[in-house]
Amino acid sequence: MPHKPAVVPSTARVVVLVSGGGSNLAELLRHHTDPAYGARVVGVVSDRTDAGGLDVARGAGVPTAVVAPADFADRGEWDRAMAQAVAVFDPALVVSAGFMRILGQPFLERFPDKVVNTHPALLPSFPGAHGVRDALAHGVRVTGCTVHLVDSGVDTGPILAQRAVEVLDGDDEATLHERIKVVERALLVDVVGRVVRDGVRVEGRRATIG
Ligand code: GRF
Repeated sequence: MPHKPAVVPSTARVVVLVSGGGSNLAELLRHHTDPAYGARVVGVVSDRTDAGGLDVARGAGVPTAVVAPADFADRGEWDRAMAQAVAVFDPALVVSAGFMRILGQPFLERFPDKVVNTHPALLPSFPGAHGVRDALAHGVRVTGCTVHLVDSGVDTGPILAQRAVEVLDGDDEATLHERIKVVERALLVDVVGRVVRDGVRVEGRRATIG
């Protein structure tokens, strides 16, 4: 019988940025060993030495780096050090998953249209660090999550995908955020996979996968 070489799908190198517990990272790691998924997390970078996401990464054998702002003279220096720490892993895509800092121009110029972020609200409503709290305080009945490309603004880049989550009577920030995070993790895994497999076209504010 003639030898038929196995088809090895190419796998995109992904770096994940975390500041918190890393449940989004954990969900990505649950998929990244599947060659059909198309993305493999090759590095995790944080701004905090105490980020739980670093332990999640270590548990999966993924290399980590910490670039703490306090170790740099100014914002530009930190941005450049972040860019360098990420570039070491030679990523095709950078995923900000609960990374609680704004990435500046020196970073974004290094990875043009290659950085995605997940946000726990339906942008452009409720950008910033307190999207869940702000949505609740506003009294909306539906909120959700958004995965978008990162530009130099605060949660302003072209939107890749969104999912809605109903606000329930009696919700507080913690209960609402937990329900959003369940939906958010699934959305992030889906979008990252499609982006690396099919690519993204950006025309003005419209971003289209595939
Ligand atoms: C997510 O809801 C993310 O959108 C927000 O912080 C949360 C991070 O969760 N910015 P985790 O660290 O991935 O568990």
